[in-house]
Amino acid sequence: MKEDSYSIARKNGITVIAYSPLATGLENIRSADPEGILRRVAEASCKSEVQVALNWCISKENVIAIPKASTAAHVIENMGASGWKLQPEHARCLKIEFDVAVVGLSRAPHGGQSAGACK
Ligand SMILES: NC(=O)c1ccc[n+]([C@@H]2O[C@H](COP(=O)([O-])OP(=O)(O)OC[C@H]3O[C@@H](n4cnc5c(N)ncnc54)[C@H](OP(=O)(O)O)[C@@H]3O)[C@@H](O)[C@H]2O)c1
Repeated sequence: MKEDSYSIARKNGITVIAYSPLATGLENIRSADPEGILRRVAEASCKSEVQVALNWCISKENVIAIPKASTAAHVIENMGASGWKLQPEHARCLKIEFDVAVVGLSRAPHGGQSAGACK
């Protein structure tokens, strides 16, 4: 999803469904995150990487996420993505590292900002 599409949806109160909110698999998120920001935020938050990824997704205004899960264990883990909030500095680190406001497949142009401070 393009950033301006999300802005338009948000401005008009349109709910957005995050298609493939886990990028079709955690390995795809990890490969878009060579600095391991998601893992570090997960460790600091005492949550799993998937829970952080989904929580970050649904923390955005008017965004819902429907992850696919094949096992009860994954469904239960994914349910743990709601009911809590990321620390603002952790949300900022994720935004710097990933594209757009929703969990994405591509890396953001860092625009001079560095995710290094998230170590
Ligand atoms: N929004 C729409 O318009 C729309 C349209 C069509 C379909 N869908 C549905 O949206 C869902 C999106 O699925 P997707 O496959 O595209 O992408 P996804 O939800 O981003 O990723 C699914 C992958 O994540 C894995 N996963 C799920 N929970 C996990 C966990 N807790 N730990 C580790 N891995 C986990 C799944 O593994 P396991 O399978 O092993 O659990 C699967 O490999 C599908 O159900 C799809 O049918 C949505």
